[in-house]
Amino acid sequence: MKFDFSDKIKKLPPYLFAEIDRTKQKLRNEGLDLIDLSIGDPDILAPKEIIKTLYSSAKLKENQKYALDQGKYELRREIKVWMKKRFGVDLDEDKEILPLVGSKEGLVHFPLAFIEASDYVIIPDPAYPAYLGAATLAGAKVYRVALLEKNNFLPDLSKIPLRVKNRAKIIYLNYPNNPTTSIAPKEFLEKAVKFCSKYGIVLVYDNAYSEIYFEEKPLSILEIKGAKEVSIEFHSFSKTFCMTGFRLGWACGNKELISGLLKVKTNIDSGVFSAVQEGGITALRDCSYFPLQLRRIIRERRRLLTKILKSAGFNRIYSEATFYLWVKLPPRSSSLEFCKYLLEEKNIVATPGIGFGKWGEGFVRFALTVDKKFFDKIDLTDINKIF
Ligand SMILES: Cc1ncc(COP(=O)(O)O)c(C=O)c1O
Repeated sequence: MKFDFSDKIKKLPPYLFAEIDRTKQKLRNEGLDLIDLSIGDPDILAPKEIIKTLYSSAKLKENQKYALDQGKYELRREIKVWMKKRFGVDLDEDKEILPLVGSKEGLVHFPLAFIEASDYVIIPDPAYPAYLGAATLAGAKVYRVALLEKNNFLPDLSKIPLRVKNRAKIIYLNYPNNPTTSIAPKEFLEKAVKFCSKYGIVLVYDNAYSEIYFEEKPLSILEIKGAKEVSIEFHSFSKTFCMTGFRLGWACGNKELISGLLKVKTNIDSGVFSAVQEGGITALRDCSYFPLQLRRIIRERRRLLTKILKSAGFNRIYSEATFYLWVKLPPRSSSLEFCKYLLEEKNIVATPGIGFGKWGEGFVRFALTVDKKFFDKIDLTDINKIF
């Protein structure tokens, strides 16, 4: 029997990281020792307090039952306190906050609540690939807006054609940005909120990297006047507390948007494992020291890898925030070819910029997610010969 995939599935691009994973696995099976700087999955252990909570909570009978779709009240309450303390944003824990099975889950399910087949979803290019998957699975039309180096990797919203603006339902924005590492200044966020209010577009603001910064502190879109009318913001425990595998995040903002997402989720998942939610409460309540330590570690790795890349001749290296370096290759180089060379000749796994969209071509992304001792093994002194 042959079963045909749906048109939506057929339209999905191959998931970039899955392809890289396969190649990596193949080389590892051949016995190669790789330095993996490809995926944003921190090598650092989550704080021990969280593990302790998880362990004791998992044993309790009430935590082994189905969780509430809306999440534990105590977790929503703790998120409310954290958002107020970190950004000065006021949120109603019952209507404006929703725990998620990781922020990706919410980011991808969200369009299902609001998209009709003729609607556009505007997605930056380059971008975290899940937005494209989200729009495609919801059956939307996609318009990609370029994030150019000359505009500090901010989209020029005035360049979006009227036919798209008039039929767009959602725009995804993500700062601190993966992969370009840039932070959005307040003036840009104000412009984005005005743009969305004018055209009746939902601003989906992905703030997964809000705590991974070095100088300037990233903002929440909800700090911007008028944002709560049009925005939903996504946060993640994955990066802030190195809890990627736990699967915990939250959405917050406009209550209609939150209730639409909740409706979708109620029909798909049955909440986050209660013990993981308890772990999240511990993270927010007792582990505020942790992001600070994490930033210190990432800052040192960033310094070391930047030095290596600079001495190999790379001089446009972006690392304003997040745990990535976004590195410009010489003109006309192929990011795929470069990453293939790195993998095969240097045993380094990096992510080709083209995997994040066509405007990512000419760049390569390095994730600072391995211990600094591995950087001693990197030798790029002869790299210029390939260009
Ligand atoms: C920009 C961005 N948003 C969201 C996520 C998803 O994070 P989570 O683990 O919370 O699903 C990632 C993960 O890499 C990311 O890079």
